[in-house]
Amino acid sequence: MKLWTGRFSKEIDKKTNDFNSSIPFDSRMYKEDITGSMAHATMLGATGINSKEDTDKILNGLQGILDDIESGKLTIDPEAEDIHTFVEGELTSRIGDAGKRLHTSRSRNDQVALDDRLVIKTECDKLIPKLEELITILCKMAKEYSHAIMPGYTHLQRAQPIVFGHHLMAYVEMFLRDISRLNDAKARMMSQCPLGSGALAGTTYPIDRNMTAKALGFDGPCMNSLDGVSDRDFFIEFASALSLISVHLSRFAEEIIMWCSWEFKFVELDDAFSTGSSIMPQKKNPDIAELVRGKSGRVFGDLTTLLTMMKGLPLAYDKDMQEDKEAIFDAFDTVNMCLTAFNPMVETMTVKTENMRHAAASGFINATDCADYLVGKGLPFRDAYKCTGELVALCIKEGLTLETLPLEKYQAVCDLFDDGVYEAINLERCVSQRTCIGAPAPENVEKRADEVLGMLKK
Ligand code: ARG
Repeated sequence: MKLWTGRFSKEIDKKTNDFNSSIPFDSRMYKEDITGSMAHATMLGATGINSKEDTDKILNGLQGILDDIESGKLTIDPEAEDIHTFVEGELTSRIGDAGKRLHTSRSRNDQVALDDRLVIKTECDKLIPKLEELITILCKMAKEYSHAIMPGYTHLQRAQPIVFGHHLMAYVEMFLRDISRLNDAKARMMSQCPLGSGALAGTTYPIDRNMTAKALGFDGPCMNSLDGVSDRDFFIEFASALSLISVHLSRFAEEIIMWCSWEFKFVELDDAFSTGSSIMPQKKNPDIAELVRGKSGRVFGDLTTLLTMMKGLPLAYDKDMQEDKEAIFDAFDTVNMCLTAFNPMVETMTVKTENMRHAAASGFINATDCADYLVGKGLPFRDAYKCTGELVALCIKEGLTLETLPLEKYQAVCDLFDDGVYEAINLERCVSQRTCIGAPAPENVEKRADEVLGMLKK
């Protein structure tokens, strides 16, 4: 039975009903829909708009529906137009006329605007712990590998020495920002409750919007009924935050894929998180990391869907907006799934510190430190840079490294060099001296990892 009986003389066409329906995806919001309805019904009772008797019936009826859906006793009718219609119809079939009084002073437009917010809050509360789990894994690994020297790269060329723990902690900073972005978006979303905006123009009933807003965890009611029903900024903000999480996961995945290659062999994935080839017996492939990298495209697509859906819509509600849910659910589900696979994959990978150390030994990544050594002897940095460049060119020509280049050759380029240069370019020293804030000295890495672990505990 459709909600709009009266005006119409025919049932909706069957296939059109399927096209129009959102029940295949909005049934996911049954709990939030019922929670919103309970707050609305309680307010209708408190303001005297509905009688106490009807209010009690409605609240008990809604609770019964919720319990029955959760226990599996009640299945959501796939033929219903949407979750709002289903719950109201079920309520009326259970408690009769009182059920028909639930929708007084409300529209599905403010109802869905509310449900959208509540369901995203639920999703957020599921996702943030997964990010925290990843951060915890990375901090622990960073402490374990705070002395594992590896080349840091720019332009994918070996650049300067760092430790593996420092590299991991870079991702920790990204994921911390991701959590803060989700929390910001959540706080903004929960600042204004749309319930009471009605279809678009509020209502003439003496409703108490502060009461419903508070009961549902909002700071207060929204201040414009048109905006209340037509705003989906919060979905776009979340899709954007999720897109950034995907960017971070994808970059990390790309590095892991690279590190797994024979060219790098900095890490090896556990067999439980790797796959083989159907034809090449030797293969061990990082499919999981590749999928995480690949799935980022879906999430960006979801963001684009939402932006495009909204950009030409006249105020207030338009049915286009029904498309919001599949996009945002897909974005949340995708990121959630990625983290479910990614976290244990990272946690169980074997770190080949000897290969990292070996890679750090070539590529002249201590050249900056060699120049800094000359600066310590009084030479201006630009001159020290030039001398060191000449030394590197000489090493390349003679097949040597800065470590194996004889002192006479150093002194032929600049007479400020003495024996101390070998100590100055020692990789362990190059890293341990990088103690300025945010730099890769092992003690810095360990301190920051502890700080973050402490923050998470709180
Ligand atoms: N299923 C709809 C949606 O998700 C609910 C709101 C319907 N409102 C309307 N005026 N048709 O957007």
